[in-house]
Amino acid sequence: MTHSRFSALQIAFHWLTAALILLIVALPYGSEAFFEALLGGKGNVFTLHKSLGVLVLLLTVLRLCMRRRAQPLEAKAPLERFLVKAGHGLLYLLLLAMPLSGLLFGSRPFSLFWLVEVGPLPLSADLRGLAKDVHILAQYLLFAMILGHAGAALWHHYVRRDDTLKGMLPLLR
Ligand code: HEM
Ligand code: HEM
Repeated sequence: MTHSRFSALQIAFHWLTAALILLIVALPYGSEAFFEALLGGKGNVFTLHKSLGVLVLLLTVLRLCMRRRAQPLEAKAPLERFLVKAGHGLLYLLLLAMPLSGLLFGSRPFSLFWLVEVGPLPLSADLRGLAKDVHILAQYLLFAMILGHAGAALWHHYVRRDDTLKGMLPLLR
C-alpha cells in the first residue's frame, strides 16, 4: 500500500479543477447550438464560463495555501526535480492568469452564477486590451502544459511503472 503525498482534499480539488477546465474551454469552443439550447442563450453560456472560471481561481488559491503543508518531493535527479517544479509552477500560474485576465478585460458587469453582479473593474482601455491578449494567448500555453502534464503522468504509470499517478488517482491502488 502506497501513501499519497496529497490529502484527500488536494486530490479532490485537482480533479475538480481538471473537470472545470474541460467545461470552461468547451463552452466557448463547443457546439453553439448545443450549449445555447442547453443553457438558454449565448449570454448564459458566457455567464457559466466566467462563473466557473472564478471558481477555478478560488480553488487554485485554496490549493496554493494547502500546498505549503505538502511533503517535499522525494529524491529525484536534479533535472527531473526542476522539470516537476517548473511544470507544476507554470500550471498554477496559468490557473491564476486565465481567470484573472478574464476578470480584468471585461468592460461590462457579469452575473456570478446568476447571483451577484461583478465588475467591471476600473481599468484603462490599454490595460483591458492587454488582459484580453493574455486571456486569448495564454490558453495555448495552458493546452500545451496540460497535454505535457497528462503525458508525463501516463509515462510515469505505464513506462516507468512508479506510483506518481496512483498518488493523484487512489482508485488505481
Ligand atoms: C486541466 C487539467 C489539469 C491541471 C490544470 C492539472 C494541474 C496539476 C497541478 C497544478 C499539479 C501539482 C499539484 C501540487 O503538487 O500541488 C498536478 C499534479 C498531478 N497531476 Fe494534474 N492537472 C490536470 C490534469 C491531469 C491529468 C489528466 C492527469 C493524469 C493523466 C494528471 C495527473 C497528475 C498527477 C499524477 C499529479 C501529481 C504529480 C506528483 O506527484 O508530483 N493531472 N496537476
Ligand atoms: C480557468 C479559467 C478560464 C479559462 C481556462 C478560460 C479560457 C478561455 C478560452 C479558451 C476562451 C476562448 C478564446 C478564443 O475564442 O480564442 C475564452 C474566452 C473568453 N473568456 Fe475565458 N477562461 C477562463 C476564465 C474566464 C473568466 C473568469 C472570465 C470573465 C470573468 C472570462 C471571460 C472570457 C470572455 C469574455 C471570452 C470571450 C473572448 C472573446 O472572444 O471576445 N474567462 N476563455
